[in-house]
Amino acid sequence: MINAVNIIRRKRDGHSHDDSEIESLIRSYTTGEVTDYQMSAWLMAAFLNGMDDNELFSLTKSMLYSGQVLDLSDIPGKKVDKHSTGGVGDKISLILAPLVAACGVPVPMISGRGLGHTGGTLDKLEAIPGFRTNLSIEHYKAQLRQIGAVLIGQTEEIAPADRKLYALRDVTATVEFIPFIAASIMSKKLAEGIDALVLDVKTGRGAFMKTEEDARNLAMELCEIGTHFGKDCTAWITRMDSPLGYGVGSWPETQEAIRCLHGENVTDVMEIVYTLASEMLVLGGSAEDTSEARKTCEAAIYNGNALDKFIEIVERQGGDPTVVEDPTTRIDFEMVAEAPATATGYVNDINAYDIGLLAVEMGAGRMRKEDQVDPLAGLILLKKPGDAVQQGEPIARLYTGKLDRISEFSERATAAFSVSSQPPDLEPLLVGRLANGTWTSN
Ligand code: URA
Repeated sequence: MINAVNIIRRKRDGHSHDDSEIESLIRSYTTGEVTDYQMSAWLMAAFLNGMDDNELFSLTKSMLYSGQVLDLSDIPGKKVDKHSTGGVGDKISLILAPLVAACGVPVPMISGRGLGHTGGTLDKLEAIPGFRTNLSIEHYKAQLRQIGAVLIGQTEEIAPADRKLYALRDVTATVEFIPFIAASIMSKKLAEGIDALVLDVKTGRGAFMKTEEDARNLAMELCEIGTHFGKDCTAWITRMDSPLGYGVGSWPETQEAIRCLHGENVTDVMEIVYTLASEMLVLGGSAEDTSEARKTCEAAIYNGNALDKFIEIVERQGGDPTVVEDPTTRIDFEMVAEAPATATGYVNDINAYDIGLLAVEMGAGRMRKEDQVDPLAGLILLKKPGDAVQQGEPIARLYTGKLDRISEFSERATAAFSVSSQPPDLEPLLVGRLANGTWTSN
């Protein structure tokens, strides 16, 4: 039987673990022999005292082999996925997965739920009534073979260790740590049966990696692990100081993603979608270079093929396709307040971290593991950095079931915006790219 107390004590006292200690800790936690409270103590000890590269590698391997590693070699084509390290308003996967599949590259995608102040793809998909993210392996493979895309969460069978650890990290303030993020992402991505992976490593105030240097280090760790397991990896560093797009929260984001699939050009969202989707087409062998790939992707949005693919995915996963065909159909999506601007001028900045935390408290995320998210809670921003604004003009719409806290929420939304007398110099969204071990700055 594992002596969990001993392992926690060793990490608390600053020692490094060997492969077998990490393997037995992760195996015993996955089976339930190690409890949540013991694992929470170990997570915090590792977070505070650090982990070296050998420990990171052992952690990734143990989490990967906590469940099945899928073999999709009998499904034709190079299978390519994308993963983001987490942001606010980051609804990219909902647009990108059907888009890339519509362009002929199969996309097997295992995603996560909300984490810390950031939203999760699973919660957003489940805002579509009936949508199921817990499919069997047979369903997962059959859907990928038949329609070229499938989006699920970690299950009892695939990456079960990440399923448990992810939920625990979310509520124990142990998210923003490179070894945990790298092992979490790569264990599920390697388990899902991909040939190649595109990574969107966020940097800035609303990201887990606040500095570009940390984001680069995370990108390098992720790509090194991918390369070690024989996967082609390309990483982009993208800026996450202000929320992406306008919607924040499950349904506000899903609705915006659907509108983008209908052809609405939400500029920052679609810039990231096209950049990452183009990389996926190149890695998947369906385009020679990213500029050819981008044209193919743009065409698939404007001719409706990406939207049709999303409708197919929704139908196959039990969701109600009418909310995708007409994204205004959710009648219970009622605004409860508007936050006003405090001054006249230009929106200088919107603090993504504050907006993310606010959305969580409004019901869009979890404060405890057992909490259910409110799919309709969140915000729709009415202004973006650089937009002109008048004092008193509404700058965000708020949606929450916590009606007793509306004025506090509204004040916090207003406080997340800063207004200046001159238009701000906006920083570029795309910061840099790592491919084949070489960095290119944008
Ligand atoms: N995405 C993940 O899957 N895990 C993390 O820890 C962070 C982002």
